[in-house]
Amino acid sequence: MCGIVGIVSNQSVSKRLIEGLTRLEYRGYDSAGIAVINGQGIKRRRAPGKIINLQHVLDDSPIDGTCGIAHTRWATHGKPNMENAHPHQAGNVAIVHNGIIENFKPLREELARKGHVFATQTDSEVIAHLIQYFLDKAMDEESAFLACVERLEGAYAVAALIGKDNQTLFAARHGSPLVVGFGEGEMFVGSDAFALAPFTKRVLYLEEGDSAVVKIDDVCVRDKSGEEVTREIMTASISAVMAEKGNYRHFMEKEIHEQPEALARTIAAYMDPETNLPLLGDAAPFLRDAERLVAIACGTAYLAASVGKYWFEGLAGVHVETDIASEFRYRTPALPKKNGTALFISQSGETADTLAAMRYCNRAGLDTIGVLNAPESSIARETNAIMRTLAGPEIGVASTKAFTAQLAVLAMGAIGMAHLRGSLSQADTQIHLMALETLPELAQQALTVKAQCEAIAPILATAKQSFFIGRGVYYPLALEGALKLKEITYLPAEGYAAGELKHGPIALIEDGTPVVVIAPTDALIEKTISNVEEVAARGAKVIAITDEAGAEQFKDSTKDIIILPDMPGLTGPIISAIPLQFLAYFTALKLGTNLDQPRNLAKSVTVE
Ligand code: M6R
Repeated sequence: MCGIVGIVSNQSVSKRLIEGLTRLEYRGYDSAGIAVINGQGIKRRRAPGKIINLQHVLDDSPIDGTCGIAHTRWATHGKPNMENAHPHQAGNVAIVHNGIIENFKPLREELARKGHVFATQTDSEVIAHLIQYFLDKAMDEESAFLACVERLEGAYAVAALIGKDNQTLFAARHGSPLVVGFGEGEMFVGSDAFALAPFTKRVLYLEEGDSAVVKIDDVCVRDKSGEEVTREIMTASISAVMAEKGNYRHFMEKEIHEQPEALARTIAAYMDPETNLPLLGDAAPFLRDAERLVAIACGTAYLAASVGKYWFEGLAGVHVETDIASEFRYRTPALPKKNGTALFISQSGETADTLAAMRYCNRAGLDTIGVLNAPESSIARETNAIMRTLAGPEIGVASTKAFTAQLAVLAMGAIGMAHLRGSLSQADTQIHLMALETLPELAQQALTVKAQCEAIAPILATAKQSFFIGRGVYYPLALEGALKLKEITYLPAEGYAAGELKHGPIALIEDGTPVVVIAPTDALIEKTISNVEEVAARGAKVIAITDEAGAEQFKDSTKDIIILPDMPGLTGPIISAIPLQFLAYFTALKLGTNLDQPRNLAKSVTVE
């Protein structure tokens, strides 16, 4: 969950290390640091907080060299302060690490007994000491690095500077991604290809257990048995242009506005122009033959899976089990013995819990499909099939366009599966597809509720806590509305199935408590309205998200009605996400929180 970048070159590297690091800041922003080797050995600069703080330190006290590493941290072990900031140094070794070294305590005790003095509370520092320990045993740099890696347990992507050698970077991965980039007379390592995009698009992805010795014009990769191996050099698809905010105040605002485009791209990719039927690619046979579906993800992606469950069960008649990845992997799930298909939904494709759950399913013999926004991610490389969401890079920590693109893909998957299995007629399939084709236009219209959401936001911003409710497919949307509000405003918010409120949570409703209800017209709207009346009678301040027909029904309970266009077929939950995003956005804006990089969070959670 940290970002790593390294450069070995015959030119100076400091400025470019910071440039690469800035593209990784979405992974964590608790502290940042840089180390370079020059004629005087290893020099490092570190700062708590964001990369801009490190830049200020470098402005006051510059360092440079032709070989260096840099790191942006999301703290796991040890406070997010300067002392615990990477790179960590022991003698002639400096390292940066992403992941968790699970056996760091015994290693640290062992090294402490041998006289090593530790300066931080991190698990990572032990790596630098262990390499130095092996150097002290007269091992050469590469042997010392490999000997160290062999002792590490847990998840890691590591880059190291060793000795006085300013011509070499050492790197290894196990459980956390690491990419090697090929430049002209220089080489790179990075947590992802996006970090290296300003320098090169030619990359190779290290595989599990690989280590690499990276020189100015070459790389030697060894697999976990120590054998030298060749890994394919690919052209990364990521744009070299740094994602810019343009005229928007935040990436989140920009990404909300990009949804019509993202949905258009995503829907088009799944529509077969010749047959006018869903195009499911490699995933088609797995969906057609599945006796049961398991859908696993984390956070917002899990809520997309939860909406998908209604669609797959409703249209294709297949039993779907949804699970939060961190729970799934630590119970003993009863998995189908044959024809079981598991879906893994992830924007980043790097979420550690989702990746581990996917590996579990691969081992259990399930067919695995990744619903992924990052086509070169770890999950993408290990699933049997990929269904891409074409949302484009999402930089804001709060997921917006990736969520609606995930929903669009799941809708396509459910329609396609139902058609393949004959549970949806040709005519009904066409009706559903035509509805999905209206998504870009509907999303464009939904963006017009922006000003109204801004006007309503003060209600949420001044409340002690808020509730989000919905029924059916709008129940996961209620959870998503609450999650979005919590993560960027830090305000308490809970999502509930509307019918569940009366079983306990209604006790929390006081005069003025905001209750956001998501209820476009469907078979359940009458029931939802009854639940809304129950809370309104107890003083709740109701905010309704509905359509024109629904607005009629809400007018006795509230004046705050956000009216969306009519949403046919499966489009309702996808479009209803937009006002929820705006409500969270404007509430956070009013409170002045760091919207794109909320406290304690990171875009991609690559630790358990
Ligand atoms: O990259 P992933 O989709 O696997 O990430 C999963 C969650 O960490 C993510 O959706 C998180 O909940 C978002 N910050 C929510 O906005």
